Amino acid sequence: MYCPPLIRQKLLFVAFQVTAVIVFTVHPFSILKAQQSEGAYAKGMVVCAYPDAAQAGLAILKKGGTAVDAAVAVQFALAVTLPQAGNIGGGGFMVYRSAKGQAATLDFREKAPAMASEKMYLDATGNVIPNKSLYTHQAAGVPGSVDGMVQAHQKYGKLPWSMLVQPAIDLAHKGFKVTEHLANDLNHNQADFSRLNSERTNYFAKATPWKAGDILVLEDLAKTLTLIRDKGRSGFYEGAVAAQITNEMKAGQGLITQADLDNYHSVWRKPVVGKYKQYKVITMPPPSSGGIALLQLLHSVEPYSLSRWGHNQDTTVQLITEAERRVYADRSKYLGDPDFYKVPVDSLLNPAYITGRMANFTWAQATPSSSIKPGSFAGYESDQTTHYSIVDGQGNAVSITTTLNGSFGNKIFVKGAGFLLNNEMDDFSSKPGVPNMYGLVGGKANSIQPGKRMLSSMTPTILEKNEKLFMVVGTPGGSTIITSVFQTILNVIEFNQDAQQAVSSKRFHHQWLPDEVMIENNALNETVLRKLQQKGYKITTRGNIGRVDAIVVTPKGLTGGADPRGDDTKAGW
Ligand code: GLY
Repeated sequence: MYCPPLIRQKLLFVAFQVTAVIVFTVHPFSILKAQQSEGAYAKGMVVCAYPDAAQAGLAILKKGGTAVDAAVAVQFALAVTLPQAGNIGGGGFMVYRSAKGQAATLDFREKAPAMASEKMYLDATGNVIPNKSLYTHQAAGVPGSVDGMVQAHQKYGKLPWSMLVQPAIDLAHKGFKVTEHLANDLNHNQADFSRLNSERTNYFAKATPWKAGDILVLEDLAKTLTLIRDKGRSGFYEGAVAAQITNEMKAGQGLITQADLDNYHSVWRKPVVGKYKQYKVITMPPPSSGGIALLQLLHSVEPYSLSRWGHNQDTTVQLITEAERRVYADRSKYLGDPDFYKVPVDSLLNPAYITGRMANFTWAQATPSSSIKPGSFAGYESDQTTHYSIVDGQGNAVSITTTLNGSFGNKIFVKGAGFLLNNEMDDFSSKPGVPNMYGLVGGKANSIQPGKRMLSSMTPTILEKNEKLFMVVGTPGGSTIITSVFQTILNVIEFNQDAQQAVSSKRFHHQWLPDEVMIENNALNETVLRKLQQKGYKITTRGNIGRVDAIVVTPKGLTGGADPRGDDTKAGW
């Protein structure tokens, strides 16, 4: 799909809002031995993208629930209150670190339906059909969120499942207060909702524009959530809701069948684990590109004096940009679903390889992206060498990133079931070298195959310092997820910012192609801008980059960073 720069820019602007990040930690008081002070909590904290969902999670913690119990409550509450991204019609990833230091990741990413095929978005002449992978029934992958929550709860939950789903049912049934952000998004998308849904199934239809304070009631969604509460996995993948999904598919030439729903299962995967200085980084393996890319980025900048140079200074921005350029080039070639493509994890994370990638970086001028290709290495490594460790801990921590892909996914409701479907199929490479909605290119590793998971950038991450929990972080933002998580970690470790400053600080982004540094408004001062431009960097200003939600453990206790770019909220006790 050819995407003119202006449209691409607009898509990028829309796309940054799309993914909900839920970050939770629980610290048993006796273990943390932290003093509670203002803004720092000893017994637990939730930072997530919507106030009602944060309260739902906190209430579960107060009832004695685990971090995973709170995660389930927040996931379903966001499926009601954050329809742009919170979901039961999408998927996501969880990174978990137990109070005893046990680390695990859960992949509940959507899968391509069995009827999907490599060229399904191409016309007869081999060109990508605009929007087919975005705003049609065929844009939807088989949803994974409900299975993921069930799996996570079975392994790490304590409170009864029904207690965790109930808050979401109450929000949908009684209604919740629309924020200004949500009102704007609902109004902005109203024409699409009307075009893509019948009048009866546009659950966001309203005679007058939405405004902050309006109450949104979602009765059909409440019924669906009730079935999930009472029947767990089978309340979604079987019976009435499954029939509603397959009927919706038949009505709109979609591909998801009952067999696809029966065959959907989330997967526990070994975390990708690396080191940055004295910190251990526990993060998401493929089919996310995020964990590998994050570790590559951290290793690329580790030898340099970032803390001396300072936050968003010219040398800092130049170094980070050059690292990002090289890492995203690798992403385009080597990352995909490990169940279908042998991702060369160890080669990509080999310190000598990463150092070598930075060897042609020069301070004198920008390296043109045209001169950077994905790296090459001698051959694939053996299977058993991925880093992972079990560590002693100080509390349970969960970092979850979950998504519909585009804002409101494919914008198509499942008739009668009241929820939106994802458009995650656009995260596949529809055609080698042709950018997706985030401007990302890919090839064979991320080609469409039945049952395959599409490559993601989601980077839920947990850091330890001295074998104790230090930071829990993640963000939405499509292709900018990786760089936002990277810069937030640097803000804390290198630039000594507290959790809130680190999250609020202005960000920038480079992804190899297009060859430009995208910055938030006022992210860089005039002097820095001039110096970078003199060296040949093309700099473009765009809207917000990411919505990071983070928790940092300090001697005072748990401190949170809730992104002011959205309705993000921190709640602790
Ligand atoms: N849908 C965005 C991502 O997974 O990267």
